[in-house]
Amino acid sequence: MDKYIVKGGSTLSGEVRISGSKNASLPILAGTILTGEDVILHNIPDLADIRMMLQLLEKLGKKTEWIAKNSVRITETDNSSIEAPYDIVRKMRASIAVMGPLLARRKQAKISFPGGCAIGPRPIDIHIRGMEALGTELVIQHGYIWAQAKELTGKRINLLGTHGPSVLATENVMMAAALAKGKTYIEGAAEEPEVAALGKFLNQMGAKITGLGTPIIEIEGVESLHGVEFTVIPDRIEAGTFIAAAGISGGKVHIKDVDIHHLDYPIEKFSEAGMEFELLSETELIAKAGKIRPVQIDTKPYPYFPTDMQAQIMAVVSLCEGISVIKENIFPDRFTHAAEMNRLGAEIQVDGMTAVIRGVDHLSGAAVMASDLRAGAGLVVSTLAARGLSEVLRIYHIDRGYECFEQKLQALGADIERAAQE
Ligand code: EPZ
Repeated sequence: MDKYIVKGGSTLSGEVRISGSKNASLPILAGTILTGEDVILHNIPDLADIRMMLQLLEKLGKKTEWIAKNSVRITETDNSSIEAPYDIVRKMRASIAVMGPLLARRKQAKISFPGGCAIGPRPIDIHIRGMEALGTELVIQHGYIWAQAKELTGKRINLLGTHGPSVLATENVMMAAALAKGKTYIEGAAEEPEVAALGKFLNQMGAKITGLGTPIIEIEGVESLHGVEFTVIPDRIEAGTFIAAAGISGGKVHIKDVDIHHLDYPIEKFSEAGMEFELLSETELIAKAGKIRPVQIDTKPYPYFPTDMQAQIMAVVSLCEGISVIKENIFPDRFTHAAEMNRLGAEIQVDGMTAVIRGVDHLSGAAVMASDLRAGAGLVVSTLAARGLSEVLRIYHIDRGYECFEQKLQALGADIERAAQE
């Protein structure tokens, strides 16, 4: 296992290029199962989760090949395997996204039942509700979901859950419906850019999907989908992480290769927290630190403040005069990073889904432990400003979702090194 050793106090400046979106790439890779023809994907980030999904596709009869640094070619060698095994699904919940494509193309799926993770129980009832509505018979036994459908038939389905829409369930059902008979209307659909990117990818393969980016997505099923060459959108959560790094370090960072329209609301909230922004074009912006001010954050589905950016802005506002309040409405257990930030001298109190952050004058270096991907990213942001040396342990969590993270931070002037964790 590796760790980061960080010497805090550097003021970040310079340019950073944002990688392709992990959360757009994963369902799009699963969607390659919907065709027997070759698919070429560009701007795919080279991450642990991506490699896990490629491994799963190999088990599902696809040949996967990196044809350039961030480009992959997916070729079908066998259209019969239907199992997403426990040893892959337990490490990556997004594996569930192969269920829809397998049912659509192979009419069967055997998926290990995803467990929980550090941010909560992660149920899949909405996925199951959607698949059953399309005509799938599902049995859950021995830790697996056994699903089969003689024929998928389009339906009007509401996918809202107790915590609002589900990104992966919307994506799963959209992919199943793409080859179903007739029209499917998904009400309560997730509006995230990653869902829209998947829908655009499917349409370029011959699907007929409208309403992307709205709460109602309409899918007219087609006979088959053909191969395609497609470029994945940038990672808005990585961009938000570098905005936070600039903000906490008193820096000024030129962020390139983003889609600024995916960052409207985060930019609004980071501005409220004292930062200044210069939007240079549709794909470039300058994020400049200012005197940090307290904010109130309610994490919500897109287009509001994303839950995946909650730890990062918590790090920033832990260093200011005043009290901030962050309400986590999406995942009930997504504050494990707060106790670790308190080890660095922050003053954060968690009460259920609400965290109260009393800003402090400074943080001081310590050893802290990442518990999940975004908690780890938030802790790295905190250590950039902590006085003296810090260690961030279990950074395999961070490797799941950040490509060349330390290299990008080093290029901005951060004093951060990867080391083996004894
Ligand atoms: C996606 O997860 C993202 N992952 C998550 O990013 C992100 O935090 C999340 O959406 C919310 O934006 C990928 O896209 C691979 P949900 P997903 O279904 O789809 C509940 C990261 O850091 N729910 O939108 O699994 C669920 O418990 C990751 O990159 C049900 O109740 O999340 C949560 O409270 C972390 N039943 C809420 O819905 C279900 O069947 C939203 O979850 C499914 C979800």
